[in-house]
Amino acid sequence: MAVTATDALVVFTPSGRRGRFPVGTPLLQAARSLGVDIDSVCGGRGLCGRCQVVLAEGEFPKHGVTSRAAHLSPSGAVEQQFCRSQPMATGRRLSCSTLLLGDVVVDVPPDSQVHRQVVRKAAEARDIELDPAVRLHYVEVQPPDMHDPSGDLRRLEDALEFEWRLTGLACDVRVLQQLQPALRRGAWKVTVAVHGGSQIIAVWPGFRERVYGIAVDVGSTTIAAHLCDLGSGDVVAAAGTMNPQIRFGEDLMSRVSYVMMHAGGEKEMTDAVRAAINGLVADVTRQAGISPDEILEATFVGNPIMHHLLLGISPVELGGAPFALSTDASLTLWATEIDLAIHRNARIYVLPCIAGHVGADAAGVVLAERPDLSEEVTLLVDVGTNAELVLGNHRRLLACSSPTGPAFEGAQVSCGQRAAPGAIERVRIDRQTLEPRFKVIGCDLWSDEPGFAEAVAATGVTGICGSGIIEVVAEMYLAGAIRHDGSIDGELGARNARIHADGRTFAYRLHNGADGRAPLAITQNDVRAIQLAKAALHAGARLLMERMGVDRVDRIRLAGAFGSHIDVKYAMVLGMIPDCALDHVSSAGNAAGTGARIALLDQRARRTIEQLVRRVEKIETAVEPRFQEFFVEAMAIPHLTAPYARLREAVALPERGTAAGDARRRKRATGRRSA
Ligand code: FES
Repeated sequence: MAVTATDALVVFTPSGRRGRFPVGTPLLQAARSLGVDIDSVCGGRGLCGRCQVVLAEGEFPKHGVTSRAAHLSPSGAVEQQFCRSQPMATGRRLSCSTLLLGDVVVDVPPDSQVHRQVVRKAAEARDIELDPAVRLHYVEVQPPDMHDPSGDLRRLEDALEFEWRLTGLACDVRVLQQLQPALRRGAWKVTVAVHGGSQIIAVWPGFRERVYGIAVDVGSTTIAAHLCDLGSGDVVAAAGTMNPQIRFGEDLMSRVSYVMMHAGGEKEMTDAVRAAINGLVADVTRQAGISPDEILEATFVGNPIMHHLLLGISPVELGGAPFALSTDASLTLWATEIDLAIHRNARIYVLPCIAGHVGADAAGVVLAERPDLSEEVTLLVDVGTNAELVLGNHRRLLACSSPTGPAFEGAQVSCGQRAAPGAIERVRIDRQTLEPRFKVIGCDLWSDEPGFAEAVAATGVTGICGSGIIEVVAEMYLAGAIRHDGSIDGELGARNARIHADGRTFAYRLHNGADGRAPLAITQNDVRAIQLAKAALHAGARLLMERMGVDRVDRIRLAGAFGSHIDVKYAMVLGMIPDCALDHVSSAGNAAGTGARIALLDQRARRTIEQLVRRVEKIETAVEPRFQEFFVEAMAIPHLTAPYARLREAVALPERGTAAGDARRRKRATGRRSA
């Protein structure tokens, strides 16, 4: 462009893009022609407020610009009208209504950028880039004309092409059913929702600023939903519920068995899970004060069996070798295809599965954690009734599933229960006296603190949940009450009443019981159940490490509700996970759900995970002879052969089965018989 006296220079920060434009050019127009990322829903009509910028005043020698307020047009009628409805922060201007009069430097704040980042709270988490598949476009459509017999849809498409450069749009009959009433009620001004830049999915009369999406993690025990504003990326409401399929079977395989043994069982379970998800939709929309009709997109993650049942596909093939998935590809569907009670034209995106035992939930964890971006070897562990493991770095990614069973969730343990008020969740055992102290869910006090009995009077001490079981078994080992091979040391019982005979084996009394409740004890069978579960988990990790050719991992991330609650130190004392520096082991929170949210807010992330899952090398533990060998070694606490040198730097582990170690252990308990 030739430089004339009627041109002015504009520099946009932080991109640094610059150009000269005729005086009188709207800033938004200048930005667009320079490819500067500024958001807009209303197409520059001063309605949406998405295009806000800030003038940077002063001398900018680097840019050769003296930037002054007088170099922009004063606030006009459109801007003032907008400010009356939605006051803007001081110094902000609507770039669509602000004209360039002289040289300026203009800052585009993050909240005005189309591809802005949504900041995630977790310390190690990457921020989410905002690029939702559903976008809103406000347009003014030419009214019909006797001399131009084109249909209303043609004129809508012309307007979208002219104002938003959208071409080749598809539109189905459900949109056509909305179109004519919307155009006429909106006096030919409508807001159009376009999915993926190619499919018109909704039309509303007049200007509409917001639409929402929902990310759902369908777990076998719980279902969690996050309602997000697709314009800002903010989570505006969240809710969770128990998966009602539990009434058909606690764990995954019992649900598959239910389908095998009951004609129509899969439909019952599909109906149940869909009803629960619709209940969550009602819950989050009520919290946010919106209508379910305002939800235009939903994303889903879930293990393969939950994935199939959500989609109305029988999971029977997943119940046995070769564990064939109906499809491992991602799916894009209509909400009506899975009876989801949101906008009737909403789209559904289901993340791809990795393998017959490693589902879309693991894909969600990979998307949230992105182990492929790092040089470090990362182990991702999603602990549920089955543990899904992913190991790798930027060179390779491997995945498998380990049959841990439900012991980590409190099942198969005599006094185990789900995490609920009254359940023991933390345990400490005195190394000398074997006296325990503990905390229960719903009470901040330890059991040996004044006021504990009164504080838990309402619920009582009802059982022990997954994190409590991990801690009590690990603490029993650290206190010498359990040997390296997992046997409860009955010899201690002669001197310490906490250890007592239980048939042919021994048990540890954790709580005396009160109010007529039975005492809570950890039996040999309970310890064995935890050993079997942790050995399966460890063996899966070892198998992946061997395949990758590494003998150590740099980082471990524990995903899922269970991963959020366990103390990683105790998980490692038990040998659930391989040795690793303790400060490199952390919870990834609900990483599968985060993956669903990333896929909801950033459509490019869908291509990323679709490509990543194709790269993942799938290992089937059921047919790997080495898995059995690793499993047997991993039954010992923490492990038969692995030295756990890094753990020993942080935790004093008992000596292994040496006479001296045993003697020391017995000496500690001598003469300290408890009440
Ligand atoms: S683009 Fe909508 S207010 Fe400026």
